[in-house]
Amino acid sequence: MLDKAKIIQLPKILDPRGNLSFFENSNQIPFDIKRTYWIYDVPGGETRGSHAFKNSTEFIIALSGSFDVVLNDGEKDMKFSLNRSYFGLYVPNLLWRSIENFSTNSLALIVSSIQYDSTDYIRDFDEFKTIRNEVIK
Ligand code: TYD
Repeated sequence: MLDKAKIIQLPKILDPRGNLSFFENSNQIPFDIKRTYWIYDVPGGETRGSHAFKNSTEFIIALSGSFDVVLNDGEKDMKFSLNRSYFGLYVPNLLWRSIENFSTNSLALIVSSIQYDSTDYIRDFDEFKTIRNEVIK
């Protein structure tokens, strides 16, 4: 499942007036967008996330600054460093994900395949491993 996570390069329209990038609903990214949220003003050393989702898939972009997204499939970690606004990370469901090592003034934009649903969260790592093992059986 970790191998389904991938960095997607977005279009980059170079312009001496300033560059422009974009993505559209289910173009450039492999799902329909139902929600957008962003994480900002993160104090030094803090970690966000540290949970998995049963169903939602996400696409994460460092619109400004940099941070690391650490994914875990229940067995091993894979770290993706995001530091350009024209690269995003596609994160399938059922992966444990943490976002850490935020630079000063970084801005994480996240689009999700579902509207906010607290019951979609798996916040206990052992429960995540149990659910994941059931699914991949
Ligand atoms: P949460 O996803 O739990 O953040 P983290 O995993 O980084 O700790 O979200 C924190 C709070 O924000 C939580 O109480 C629910 C709320 N929230 C929404 O209301 N809508 C959203 O789209 C998101 C992502 C969070």
